[in-house]
Amino acid sequence: MSRIAVLPPDLQNKIAAGEVIERPASVVKELLENAIDAGSTAIEVVVEKAGRKLIRIADNGSGMSREDAVRAFERYATSKIRHEADLFHLRTLGFRGEGLAAIAAVSRIVLKTAERDADGAQVSVDGGVVDGVRDAAALGTSVEVRDLFFNTPARRKFLKSDATENFHIIDTVTREALVHPSIRFSLHTDGSELMLTPAASSLRERIMQIYGREFVDGLRETRVEEPGLALHLFVSSPNMIRNSRTNQYVFVNQRPVKDQTISQAIYRAYDGILSRNQHPVFFAFLAIDPEQVDCNVHPTKREVRFRDKLRVFRIVSDAARKALLTSTMVQPVVGADAPEQGIEYRVGYAEPVSAGLEWVWDSVPQQADIIAESSHAYLNQRLPNVYVGDTLVAFADGDGLVVMDYHAAHERVNYERFLDTVRMPAHHLLFPEQVTLPRAAAAVLVANASLLASCGIELDDFGEGSVVVRSVPEALQGNDLAGLLSDLAGALQMQGDEPLSDGLPELIDRRRRYLAAQLACHASIRGTQEVPDEERLSRLRTALAAARNPHRCPHGRPTMVRLSLDALKKMFRKS
Ligand SMILES: Nc1ncnc2c1ncn2[C@@H]1O[C@H](COP(=O)(O)OP(=O)(O)OP(=O)(O)O)[C@@H](O)[C@H]1O
Ligand SMILES: [Mg+2]
Repeated sequence: MSRIAVLPPDLQNKIAAGEVIERPASVVKELLENAIDAGSTAIEVVVEKAGRKLIRIADNGSGMSREDAVRAFERYATSKIRHEADLFHLRTLGFRGEGLAAIAAVSRIVLKTAERDADGAQVSVDGGVVDGVRDAAALGTSVEVRDLFFNTPARRKFLKSDATENFHIIDTVTREALVHPSIRFSLHTDGSELMLTPAASSLRERIMQIYGREFVDGLRETRVEEPGLALHLFVSSPNMIRNSRTNQYVFVNQRPVKDQTISQAIYRAYDGILSRNQHPVFFAFLAIDPEQVDCNVHPTKREVRFRDKLRVFRIVSDAARKALLTSTMVQPVVGADAPEQGIEYRVGYAEPVSAGLEWVWDSVPQQADIIAESSHAYLNQRLPNVYVGDTLVAFADGDGLVVMDYHAAHERVNYERFLDTVRMPAHHLLFPEQVTLPRAAAAVLVANASLLASCGIELDDFGEGSVVVRSVPEALQGNDLAGLLSDLAGALQMQGDEPLSDGLPELIDRRRRYLAAQLACHASIRGTQEVPDEERLSRLRTALAAARNPHRCPHGRPTMVRLSLDALKKMFRKS
């Protein structure tokens, strides 16, 4: 029976058009979503050479008739919508009738399919042209995509390293697996099983299958139901915070998407808990009346548009706050974040002074002096520190008042030490520690093992998303290893897309600097820890004085702000 039809031209024009297949992972996404739409309960993904050579996805779904199997490769041929109005009643992931046509245009495909209790068919397509249809035994559907981009060399050239392309593939399978817990997914790359998630009974169980129990234990879960909307949210407790935006997932009507409204709503709930470089982990599963959301926004469907954005924001933010409040571990970091405009070298005295003591206003300089970048001799002087609050201490240097952010200062010192790896002895763990991570994260770490080793972190692949850590830099002893490795994987991944034409040395250097900044942040005294004693602060000041660039932390924020005696005198009208 034929179910697929080509959309009428006026509707074709309303489909968000553009590049659908950007890289091997896009093929995986399209084929996975087709398999999911076909009602499959088990989906197998096989990849060779990061998808350049082969991507095969087999499902046990509804299958297609012989006639449909051929028509499926035409552009705008779909069984999922017929009319424009259907776009606002979507119950399927697919709707454009473009996926298969777009893949077929840039590869060689063999599709085998059979409807239940019917004879099967095999269709071969070469660069978009159907070149063979014959009978074949099949159960469900399997699509074999070979030689991706064989006829578009320019695009082939733009592909990144195998490790990066594999990362995107794993990431794609992970996202689909997360949001379809009842489906069994497996992923094999170059002969080894990278991922296997048996059918799970809940989202929580699925998250656990992928990330492990310890990770799930650090999540707070909450559910909200309102007319036309259901939200299932997992957010990290305040003691499971990352230094990068890894492990942040948003799904709308079972689609993996990037959505600022939802992400920002979650961040809002962490106001006062997170500082600027800290990020929560979250999984937001939103089901919303299809009339309330437009999925036809981006050619690859990675964005959606809500009719009532504010409502979504409010619901998500309230839910996240509720989830955090049920956590007994909430300890707002006092004054964790300075207002955006007040950060760079500006001191916050102008406001309180002008509010309370209006009469001095005209003589108050608008900005504090920036620490003279050439001289910082005062750092070496044995001057007593006064704890101001947060991570700030102050000391007078005889010619002014210096306020130092000891976290930022420590970060700077550590950063330079990490960069200078010869002075960063690795500490061999007495008992090598096994850490289980999402497979994609583990794969990135293993691919960068020698780079990590040069920073004092020696690890080996232990299979199935586990790595065994043999050494960590001395300064990182006692750190939460899983959190550290996950941040590092995120950092490496973000840098992983640099074209290799940059030259490997530069790339490695850039990665090393990035890595060093991440390591430094982990190794530095935090606001939640005890205020360092006088001895430690004075050692820190000495180390900072010896730093190559003592004035800024690796993220570019100041480590110190100074009010000169002159400026102070002016404030007291003594000049
Ligand atoms: N694995 C599969 N099992 C059963 N039918 C399939 C499968 N893959 C594709 N089809 C059929 O082929 C049609 C075309 O697939 P294609 O991916 O090109 O478009 P679509 O899924 O309808 O829309 P979109 O372009 O948004 O993905 C589908 O509508 C569906 O009927
Ligand atoms: Mg599709």
